Parts: sequence; structure tokens; C-alpha cells
Amino acid sequence: MESKKTFYITTPIYYPSDKLHIGHAYTTVAADAMARYKRMTGYDVRFLTGSDEHGQKIERAAKERGLTPKEYVDRIVISFQHLWRSLNISNDDFIRTTEERHKQTVQKIFQQLYDQGDIYKDSYEGWYCTPCETFWTEGRLEEGNCPDCGRPVELLQEESYFFKMSKFGDRLLKHIEDNPNFIQPVSRRNEMVSFIKSGLEDLCVSRTTFDWGIPVPFDSKHVIYVWMDALTNYISALGYGHENEALYHRYWPADIHLMAKDIVRFHSVIWPIILMAVGLPLPKQVVGHGWLLLESGKMSKSKGNVVDPLILIDKYGVDAVRYYLLREMPLGIDVNYSEESMVHRINQDLANDFGNLFNRTCAMANKYFNGVLQAPGAPEGPDQELLDLAAETPPIVEEMMERRDLAGALAAILKLVGRANKYLEETAPWALAKDPQKRDRLFTVLYNVAEVLRLATVMITPFTPQLPQRAWPLLGIENHAQLHAWDSLRWGGIPAGTVLKKGEPLFPRIDPATLEES
Ligand code: ME8
Ligand code: MG
Repeated sequence: MESKKTFYITTPIYYPSDKLHIGHAYTTVAADAMARYKRMTGYDVRFLTGSDEHGQKIERAAKERGLTPKEYVDRIVISFQHLWRSLNISNDDFIRTTEERHKQTVQKIFQQLYDQGDIYKDSYEGWYCTPCETFWTEGRLEEGNCPDCGRPVELLQEESYFFKMSKFGDRLLKHIEDNPNFIQPVSRRNEMVSFIKSGLEDLCVSRTTFDWGIPVPFDSKHVIYVWMDALTNYISALGYGHENEALYHRYWPADIHLMAKDIVRFHSVIWPIILMAVGLPLPKQVVGHGWLLLESGKMSKSKGNVVDPLILIDKYGVDAVRYYLLREMPLGIDVNYSEESMVHRINQDLANDFGNLFNRTCAMANKYFNGVLQAPGAPEGPDQELLDLAAETPPIVEEMMERRDLAGALAAILKLVGRANKYLEETAPWALAKDPQKRDRLFTVLYNVAEVLRLATVMITPFTPQLPQRAWPLLGIENHAQLHAWDSLRWGGIPAGTVLKKGEPLFPRIDPATLEES
């Protein structure tokens, strides 16, 4: 048997410094939609997420609450896993950096880099941003603060190990130039190219002034720098450096490391250089999406201006929340979040367009011919235009998915749904139903719309994974698994004789007035 093409996608491993908000939910839901899409299109997919549990920031957060770091992260990690289940995230593994399997890989890599002379001991004197877990030289500070987050930095003076990043700058630049898809979107790539051209310094990769981390294997006074520890999760979770490296050989290099722009530098500079130095292949692509912003600025755990996705799921349903996040965020651009915009989007696209097309179609079919579909007649009037759009849409969606443009893919699906709503207005089945001579035409029209609903439901499945199990019974094809598959995206799948059913609205309209009450 020929082995399937593989697809390995990762999210960042988030800090369990506090509960997650819809910014984190966005990244994980986007990765989930990509993973589900690839599974539907025949790939052997590996989808990884996890938690980044070491470092000074976590150690301090635990101390403030009177807990040990491990007690503290154990509680928060449970809330991560609960959130991912509530959002229907289909990850294959969840890596915690406090796990033994991870520690072993990190220490092995550190040891190798030391043995081959790419890690050396020196003393560090410079600045550190604990919220970002980042070292800064004096010259890069902005008004004395962290240039990434604007918060105060601390002066560090300690003996440290250093990683010879500087010697890999030219090789990395060449890799970025030779592989235009390596860093996406282009705006991110340009930022990284100018960052590397401004000169790479050797990176401090150990700390001695606290001990919540993985010890340097040959010098236990030191713990390994949390970013070097964290980035390694992408291969430790595949068993790299262990006796059984089967998963590593099957899935590495990763197809996509997905994240927001705040941490693209770590993934497209530090991580590739670690891999180059160890002698491993680089990930195929690093994608840095934009930020969800609130009126008060970037949503962030440390600022406390966060929106809890669980509350939104409770109010609006998981598919609607996923849909909003994925539809609203264009590739690479920041987006303002508000509950008003969310309710507006859900009402417009899911209630009025998609849900309503289901309701009207099933209701009319039941009223006029007890729901039993007949084979459609030859196309006439606006039929061909609808059929053409139905044929053009799947390849557009596929292209958008390859470009990692999920909002673009959803827009294309909803365009087809919108065209079918217009088609109902144009063909007016309620008028056809009054004329016994037009019986065949009536069957054809409702068949065509039902078939559009089938195609749209197949295509939207990776984004709204609960929808299909409610939609297939309405279309009477819940027992026809082959008609739910990506390779069924050809016109005419629904067999004659299929019975459409009436049901509850798929996406009830939300009364915007309920917003004011909350
Ligand atoms: O950086 N909008 O963890 P983190 C969009 N542990 N995405 C957002 C967001 C927002 N407002 N806020 C957070 C870390 N994110 C490290 C990662 S990986 C080896 C180590 C998402 O908890 C986005 O994906 O600060 C961002 O890159 C990530 O959460 C940062 O999560
Ligand atoms: Mg952060």
C-alpha cells in the first residue's frame, strides 16, 4: 500500500500563566480547521498543541498565589485542555514541557550543541523582559522598555551559556531567499529579513538566578533558557532523541508552525538556527497571523483585558464562535474584536444566509412534495450560473487553504450560499408550486438548492465540525458517508428519492438587544 502524504501542523505552546482568551482560541481553531481540511483531503495529519510551563514568568505567577510552579501549572493546563475540548479541537497530542519525554530531548540537544562547540560559557550583562522571556541589549530598548511589549525590563548580570547564533545568519538569509514560502505572510518575511540583516548576536541560553526550568545536563546550576526549551517541543513530541523516533521520521519537518506575529522571530530565526546547528531539516513554513485587538489594545493575559471563549461558546454555540473567528481574520492583518461584530457576523452569514437557506429549502420541499426529491431536469434560466459557481467554488476553497487564507475560503463558500438564496428569489418555487404544469421545474429548482447545501456543508465541515451531524439528516443523507467527503464535491451527488426533512433552525438568529443586557 502506498503510504499517505503527511501533514504536521503545530500551534504555539501557550504559557499557563493564566487562563486562555479568544486570541489563543483563534490560533488553535485556525490550526484545527487546517488539520481537519487536510484529513478530509486524504493526508496523514499530525496536529500538536501544548503548554510552555517553565521560566521566570511562571515561577513568579505561582509564587504570587502561594503555590509551587508545578501545582500552579497543573491547574491551568486542565483549563487549557477543557477549552480545547469545548472548541472541538482535534489535536493528536498535547505536549507539556514539564514532561520527562520533553526534558530528555531538550537536554540531548543542549549537550550536542555544547559538545560540538556551538554553546560556550561566558557572562551575560544586559536586560531581560520577563513577560516576553526575552533578552535585550541596551541598544534595542525603547525608552528603556521592552521593544516588543513596552513593559519595564530587568538588568541581569549572571554567568551564562551562549549559543553561537551569529555564525548562522547568512545561511538563514539564504534559506529565506531560496524558500519564499518559508515565512508567511510577506510582511512578516520582510520584517525577519531586515532583523537578520541588522546582525544576529549570540543568544544567552541559560539562567542561574532561578531554577524553574530544565537543568543544563552538565552544569546543574543552570537552567536552559525557556525559549530554547519551548521551541524544542515540536520535535520532542515526536520522540526525537528517544529510542523510538518513528513519529519523528514520519512527520518531521513540520508543514506549518502557526502563531501570531509576536513570536514569529523566535520561530523563524532562533528555531531554524537551532535545527541547522543540530543538523536537522527546517520546518517548511512559519505563518504569523495578526492580532485580535480590543478597544483597549491587544488582548493580553498580563493586561487583563481578555475575553473568555467559554462564555461565548455558551451563549452562541461552538460552531458560531469558530466561524466568527475564522471568517473575521484576514491573513496577516489585525482585527478589532467586539461582541457586536460577532453577533452581526453570526446573524448575517449563519442565520440569514446559510441557516435560512436550509430552512426554506426543507420547508418548501416538505410543503410541496413531502420532501421527496426527484432527479433534476435540464438546466434552464439561472440554473447554469448556479451550477458553474458550484463547480468553481471547491478549487477556490482549496487554493485559499493552500494560501492559509481561511477567511477567504469561508467567503467563497458563503458566496455560493448567497447565490443559491438569490436563485430561490429568481426561480420563486412558491409560484411554481401553484401551477401543476410546472411540477418538474419545481423539483429541479429545489434539487439544485439542496445540492448546493450539500456542497457547502462538505466544504464548511473543517470550520464548523458540529454542523454536518445536524445538517445531513435535514438533507436526508445522514447514511451516505461518501456524500460527506471532500472528493464528493461534484454536482449531482444527492440521489433521486432522497427525503428532505424539516428541523430546528441550524443557526437561530441572535437578538442584538441581548447584548445590552449582559
Ligand atoms: O508566546 N491575537 O505563549 P503565549 C491573536 N509560550 N493571537 C493571540 C493573541 C491575540 N490578541 N494573544 C495570544 C508564548 N495569541 C510562548 C510560545 S511556542 C514554542 C512558545 C496567540 O501564551 C498567538 O498564537 O504568550 C500568539 O503567538 C500566542 O497566542 C502567544 O501565546
Ligand atoms: Mg505572549
